[in-house]
Amino acid sequence: MINKPIFLIGMMGSGKSSLAKALSRELSIPLLDTDLEIEKQVGLTIAQMFSKHGEAFFRAKEQELINSLTTEPKIVACGGGLPCHHELMQKLLDKGIVVYLEAPVKVLFERISTGKERPLLSGFDDFNWLFAERNAVYQQAHYSVDARWTEQQVLSACLELLSTNPS
Ligand code: S3P
Repeated sequence: MINKPIFLIGMMGSGKSSLAKALSRELSIPLLDTDLEIEKQVGLTIAQMFSKHGEAFFRAKEQELINSLTTEPKIVACGGGLPCHHELMQKLLDKGIVVYLEAPVKVLFERISTGKERPLLSGFDDFNWLFAERNAVYQQAHYSVDARWTEQQVLSACLELLSTNPS
């Protein structure tokens, strides 16, 4: 029985949003995608927000959103940088169950090289540097799941760990 939020964290391309949708459906728990929620609140895409108001504005919105969450069960897909700003990793660990979707940096970079517009994505060197810095924070998660697996395998692994290690 899940009685608190489940936070999915990891780099861009690790599959947080897809897994969050699948978990929400399987467990019948409401879904929150922090990027989508902030875009809705502000009325701009993330790329527009970064260029109009700067990254600090977006990070403040992430902080407000996490602070406003109750401990009601929810599946939360966190933007890639969220746990690494304003000490939000500690907040996530205190408020819920944190699952890190972990994959080698090259696999992640290949996945995101095409696809939606991501403001912090310039080239592999920058991405690699960001990964190294963030991985130390992500490793504090309660659980890690191998994000190289198929969506179905990642979902099954999460359901398994949540059922054998309930909050
Ligand atoms: C970011 C990741 C993005 C989004 C924003 C910044 C980051 O979310 O929050 O572009 O700092 O890694 P995804 O991880 O869902 O792509």
